[in-house]
Amino acid sequence: MILPIVAYGDNVLKRKGKEIHSEYQDLKQLIDNMYETMYKASGIGLAAPQIGLSIRLFIVDSVQMESKDNPKLKGIKKVFINPTIIHESGEEWKYEEGCLSIPGVRGDVYRKANLKIKYQDENFEWKEESYDDINARVIQHEYDHIEGILFTEKLAPLKRKMIQKKLQKIMKGDVDVSYKMKFPNV
Ligand code: NI
Repeated sequence: MILPIVAYGDNVLKRKGKEIHSEYQDLKQLIDNMYETMYKASGIGLAAPQIGLSIRLFIVDSVQMESKDNPKLKGIKKVFINPTIIHESGEEWKYEEGCLSIPGVRGDVYRKANLKIKYQDENFEWKEESYDDINARVIQHEYDHIEGILFTEKLAPLKRKMIQKKLQKIMKGDVDVSYKMKFPNV
């Protein structure tokens, strides 16, 4: 089932997500729905707050980005539950990010190149893994979502100023978007 994606301005995007337990109801269905919703919107990551749930869960599929342009990339398709980024290292590098909750807005964000993350998979088995390059980038962006942080907060001050009008429009639903969204001021 495709779920509406919550747009910029909704409070759920600013809240820190709560941990979940293995008895969480209909988790498998939720994860399936999140994948379907993400693919429909041509996304490479989706966090639970973006579908209105304030819980510590996000999905990533960077396999879609494996291509001639990214010859070195070995993508991942994974569910991250109750994650903690234990460590970030390496040089900060910039990448033009976007977000399904903020359609039509893109901008350079600096993040560290490598990370170590501890999380539970969809079977609630604990894992500890290291990621770099695009995979780290997508994980950092989605992890921010469950911490109540949006990429727009990490843009350079001038760029942040430049997108204010666009953000106001998004809140009112005054935006061209090809997937189903839920706008706070509509
Ligand atoms: Ni996002």
